Amino acid sequence: MGQQAQTYLRRVSGAISNIDRATMLRQQPATIWLTGLSGSGKSTLAYELEHRLIGAGHACYVLDGDNVRHGLSGDLGFGTEDRRENIRRVAHVAQLMNDAGLIVITALISPMHEDRMMAREIVGSERFVETYLSASVEICTQRDPKGLYAMAHSGKISSFTGVSAPYEAPESPGLLVETAKETVSASVARIYDYLHERYLNPS
Ligand code: ADX
Repeated sequence: MGQQAQTYLRRVSGAISNIDRATMLRQQPATIWLTGLSGSGKSTLAYELEHRLIGAGHACYVLDGDNVRHGLSGDLGFGTEDRRENIRRVAHVAQLMNDAGLIVITALISPMHEDRMMAREIVGSERFVETYLSASVEICTQRDPKGLYAMAHSGKISSFTGVSAPYEAPESPGLLVETAKETVSASVARIYDYLHERYLNPS
């Protein structure tokens, strides 16, 4: 939208605040922002964590890159600008879902430090938990659940993260998950405990 159109827009709100919504759900909303290479385990972890949270009575939702790219980001590819736009859109959706009181888990490669900083800014620093799923390109290539690394290594897919496009690992993530060294259930338990301490049991 052009700058001029925005000039004529005013934010509107009703009688219900973000705090009212969160209080009703008995949780403080947060966005668990998973970042890591394709095949590092983001989707697996996201859905297992969602399962655990819902099982414990917490309202949450997963925003997965492969899914949002069918709709919300269906017009975007994998160049630097398109990835940034994908991340910007998902961050805004996460922010809205957090305003609605939900715990949000995002599963996007989100390879660039600057773009993750943008996401943090959009979501709000106090709600944003950058969670790095660390797994080397070699490990992800061995796993290759979608056969994409084989295609990237043979040049059939271009700009593939970790092979022909960059991945900037977070230097000081809120949480570090070494998916080659820890079971999925151990990782889920660790993230759940982190959330429980800070967001799920507000006094
Ligand atoms: S991001 O870079 O914009 O954050 P996102 O997480 O939405 O990426 O999408 C990554 C998924 O798209 C991968 O899991 C993979 O299935 C698929 N994909 C297709 N082409 C590429 C590519 N060139 N680089 C990375 N992932 C790709």
